Formats: sequence, C-alpha cells, structure tokens
Amino acid sequence: HRHLLGIEGLSRPEIVALLDMAENAIEVSRQVEKKSSKLRGRTQINLFYEASTRTQASFEIAGKRLGADVMNMSVAQSSEKKGETLLDTAMTLNAMRPDIIVVRHSQAGAAHLLARKVDCSVVNAGDGAHEHPTQALLDALTIRRNKGRIEGLIVAICGDVLHSRVARSNILLLAALGARVRAVGPSTLVPRGLERLGVQVVNDMQRGVDGADIVMMLRLQRERMSGSLVPSSREYFHFFGLDEEKLARAAPGALVMHPGPMNRGVEIDSSVADGPQSLIREQVEMGVAVRMAVLEALAHHLPNV
Ligand code: CP
Repeated sequence: HRHLLGIEGLSRPEIVALLDMAENAIEVSRQVEKKSSKLRGRTQINLFYEASTRTQASFEIAGKRLGADVMNMSVAQSSEKKGETLLDTAMTLNAMRPDIIVVRHSQAGAAHLLARKVDCSVVNAGDGAHEHPTQALLDALTIRRNKGRIEGLIVAICGDVLHSRVARSNILLLAALGARVRAVGPSTLVPRGLERLGVQVVNDMQRGVDGADIVMMLRLQRERMSGSLVPSSREYFHFFGLDEEKLARAAPGALVMHPGPMNRGVEIDSSVADGPQSLIREQVEMGVAVRMAVLEALAHHLPNV
C-alpha cells in the first residue's frame, strides 16, 4: 500500500505486521536517545483541519524519531481562511514535494480524495465519522500487550458510536482479528446495520458491560449533533457513564480504554479513568509507536528506499 486511508482494505496479516513493527518502535521510544534514521531526508506534512492533541503531537514526534523533516501546517493561519479548497491546498503542498501528508478533516472521504490527487503517501488521521485507522491500531496494540491476544476477547465499545470514526475503525480491526465486539449505547447513538459486521448491539449499559474483557468508552460528540437531540450530561452519565458500579459487571481483570479527549463526568467517571483498570495513558504511548510503524511501512513504498 502507498497510503493508509482506513482499516477497511487491510488484511489480518497486514494488521499484525504493523502491530509487530510498532513493538520495535516502543523499544526505540524507551531509549535515552530516541532516534533512528529510517526516514532521514523525507518530508512529512501534518495537515489538520480539525482540533487534535494526541494524534497531531504523536505523528509529529513519530516522524521526528524516525529522522523525517516534519512540518505542521497551521490551518487556522492558512489560505483556507481566504476560501482555498482542501484540494487546492493539497496540490499546493504537493508541489513542494513532500513524501507523506497526514490529514485530518471533518468530511468523510477527505483522505481518499487527497490520495487520488497527490503524488505522495497519504495517512488518514481522522475523516469525519468515517475512519481513524491509527487509533484502531494503537488500541489493538494496547489490548494485545495487556491481554496477550485479541482473538476471542469481548470488547464493549460504549457511548456515541454513531458519530465515532474511532468506533468504526475499531469494529473493522477487532472483527478482522477475531474479537467479539459489542456496540453499547442509546438507540439514537448507535448506527443501524452493525449486525452485518458481526457486532452485537446492546442499548443498556449494564447488559453491555456484563462480562466484557475490554470496556472502551467514547466521547459524546456534541459538535456533530443538532439542537434537541443533544442529551444532557447528567442524564447521559446516569444511564451510560462508566463508573465503578457499572464496571463491576465486567469480566474479572477487565480493562478500561478511552481514545481521548475525555469528558469526565459525562461518559466516564474520574475514579475509573484514573483507576487501576485504566489503560488510557498507555494508549497515548502506543500512539507514538503505532504512528512510527505506519510511517516506516509507508516509507518502504516511497521511491529510493
Ligand atoms: N484520540 C484522538 O484522536 O485524539 P485527538 O483528537 O486529540 O487527536
């Protein structure tokens, strides 16, 4: 592959190979001198049209640890403000001969559109409610390191599944690796048709968490909802917020995940987010490793490597 646009289209061996490469990247990141030269001379542009803390920072750190020249496009100060389209911006950057463009955009399909036009590799860092493939890879790596496997685990993905590209990419990846996936949330926030992907849909949080090995919480994406359909925080937390009482129904040794950013007291209680079963900090560390693996894998398909 020249691009990473989604989990869709990746085979099980390709996913496993990326996770194995990320294990090596963890070693590099834990050394005092965290540098390799695998991407020396390469230019990586991070083009983020939507807010990001984790993804943008970790793609920048990942590229720099591999020796690439990394440029963060500051979209707020770019000519997008003067009406330039995504495609014109991308073609302008393309003329500067980058090797990799990492893109986040509010429109589903934005990364695919770019990939068809530019000469370099494109990595999808989140496109609307469609896919966020590096998030699913880092979540899988975190699960594999803590549980020793993914196959056969019960993974409950809870909350605003409807608006979540994280959920979509995770469902595709976890299904490919043989996990038993549940989508847990109010019927208004779970998309139709998930059963076709082998997902069990549960509209009650207690039943959804029951016996789960992994409880993955999602942020309530108010910015993608309209007016009257936005639930109140208090009501949402009561029914679907993960607290110690609801978590007690999960399997012994169950682990809690959240892609971030978290809304404490809305979808997750601080006692759980900061508690002994939480993998949330580790997910962030794995994010750098997975992004190093992805950049390195794409570099093998760049000319002159
Ligand atoms: N999980 C995630 O994508 O976080 P950011 O929006 O901060 O990048």
